[in-house]
Formats: sequence, C-alpha cells, structure tokens
Amino acid sequence: MTPLIAPSLLAADFARLSEEIDLINDSDADWLHLDVMDGRFVPNITFGMLLIEAVDRLCTKPLDVHLMIVEPEKYIEAFREAGADVITVHYEACPHLHRTLQQIRATGAKAGVAINPHTPVQVLDDILEDMDLACLMSVNPGFGGQKFIYRTLEKTRVLREMITSRNLPVHIEIDGGVGLQNAQAILAAGADVLVAGSSVFKADDPRDAISRLKACGRESILV
Ligand code: DX5
Ligand code: ZN
Repeated sequence: MTPLIAPSLLAADFARLSEEIDLINDSDADWLHLDVMDGRFVPNITFGMLLIEAVDRLCTKPLDVHLMIVEPEKYIEAFREAGADVITVHYEACPHLHRTLQQIRATGAKAGVAINPHTPVQVLDDILEDMDLACLMSVNPGFGGQKFIYRTLEKTRVLREMITSRNLPVHIEIDGGVGLQNAQAILAAGADVLVAGSSVFKADDPRDAISRLKACGRESILV
C-alpha cells in the first residue's frame, strides 16, 4: 500500500512561502496540509482563508485543511471557496457533527473528523459512513515539532478494524510527530495518510524526506 503524504505547511518558512510551495509541487507529496488555529480551540493562532486562497493559487496539490477552531460550521463554505479540498473539523468542537459533515460534503469537499489524543476512536462508530477521513491526533493539537504519542498506534489498529469490517472507504490520517522513525509502524497499524511538518520542512532535503516517507508504505508490506 502506498500512503498519501501530506506535508504540513506549519513548519515551512513563511518568508519564502512560494519557494516552499514550489518544492511541494515538485515532490511526491499527495496533499498539502494546512493547520488553521483560532486561539480558542487550541492555544495558538495561525492563519485563515486569506492565506489559504493565496496558497491555492500557487499549489498544484489538493489542500487538506485541518480546522482547529471552535464553531467551524460558520466557516465551511468560506474555506471551500478559498480552495480547501479536504475539510477536517474536530469531534471535540462539533456538538452537531453529523450536520457539519453533511455541510462539508454539500460544498463538494471531502469531510474529515479529527480526534484529540484523549478521545477514543469508538466515538466515531455512528458517524463513519458520513465521513471520508479520520484524523487521529498523535500530539496535542496547537504546535508543530512535538513528540509522537505511541498510544495512537493502538487507536489506529482499532479504527482500521472498524472501517474494514464495514468495508468503508475512510482514510486514516495520522497528524503530529510523524517521521521516518515511526512511519512504518504507523502504516503497519493501518493508517494511509501521513501528515509531516518538521520531518519534511526542517529536513536537509525536504523532497527526499517526502519520497522516503512514501517508500515506507512499500516496506511495511514486508513486515
Ligand atoms: C498540530 C498540527 C500538525 C502539525 C504537525 O496541531 O495539527 O499538523 O503541523 O507538525 P509536526 O509534523 O512537526 O508534528
Ligand atoms: Zn494538522
């Protein structure tokens, strides 16, 4: 299985944004991951639709927009218009998650649900049919460059079993602390999308880091 690789722009050099995006365009990356933070759902603030709209004009890869914001339902259409291809909301921020997922799909975007490290995957049981992607946070959301929480591997295995037993086409994306040191274990556990910020943009050769992450999927067949 060849995984999808979604480098996270959070770790890029924003003073050289167009060069960083050129690098992504010219790499094996499948998606570009964009972390929107509001200073309320998470203790950090990043960027909104204005920047995403600019990135969309430069980037040839689908935009994977991770909304770490309260009341995301207020902004779904605006993020779609800015260029989002996948829109992921947090389970913990959505009291009417089913409605919010329908709202995302109605825009034509793929609908994702992210869960924090303390949230069990079983909460997704009654919503799996209504989503295209489950994002398991393997760090506490808010910052790049944190350490991978290894409990995520067990959560991945359980969720993969839930998805496979119902024969659903739901991606499992792992976000936070992902790099060459753990990618193979993550893919072997059943994930198929890897978000990678620091391990790509802080690497000496980011393109090579992306290619090597992608190759981990081929190797995981052997283990
Ligand atoms: C964390 C973000 C991640 C972050 C990952 O809140 O959701 O997408 O950019 O960065 P690394 O790969 O550096 O942990
Ligand atoms: Zn993210």
